Amino acid sequence: MNVGILISGRGSNMAAIASAVSNGEIPGCRIAVVVSDRPDAAGIEIARGFGIETAVISRRGRSREEHDAEIIEKLKQFGVDFVCLAGYMRLLSPLFVETFPRRILNIHPSLLPAFPGLDAQKQAIEHGVKVSGCTVHFVNEDLDAGPILLQLAVEVLEDDTPEKLGARILKQEHRAYVEALKLIAGGKVKIFGNRVQVDK
Ligand code: GRF
Repeated sequence: MNVGILISGRGSNMAAIASAVSNGEIPGCRIAVVVSDRPDAAGIEIARGFGIETAVISRRGRSREEHDAEIIEKLKQFGVDFVCLAGYMRLLSPLFVETFPRRILNIHPSLLPAFPGLDAQKQAIEHGVKVSGCTVHFVNEDLDAGPILLQLAVEVLEDDTPEKLGARILKQEHRAYVEALKLIAGGKVKIFGNRVQVDK
């Protein structure tokens, strides 16, 4: 599996995947390229530190389709056949989703379908839920939707702030994303409509 990772910022999920791949924890998976839509994304330097190829493709006032077409071209150039969104802050166009059907994963810091969109940790605290967590899901054209592959729960504490809760969720995100890729690279995942079946 030739993975392309799309980032917009910090890149800690990308780093968790890169470190698992370099430790041989995800057999059959290599990271072909990391693409950022933002030139100032800290994750770019981190990817380079892992010896991974990187590219910055800014939107520069173009339409989403035009921007996505350029990213697709770059991913194809690197032989990418599976895409991971890791803190990528843009909604993908139908063109992108159709180019990699059922071959795009995203991670989100809540137990979807609760609290999609921005500031999921703050939304969880303000709603008063006692348990939140993270979700790894396949991507379709809707925001934070698409078949759910894996979720890990995190308790919400009474004195939590979005930052404190976010930090605990992030640790679980790193585990969840690596586990999700292991399952996919191991051929253990089937999608039936909105439901994902994982072979034990
Ligand atoms: C993570 O919380 C992820 O769930 C969300 O954006 C954040 C990205 O963090 N989609 P990082 O760039 O992987 O550190």
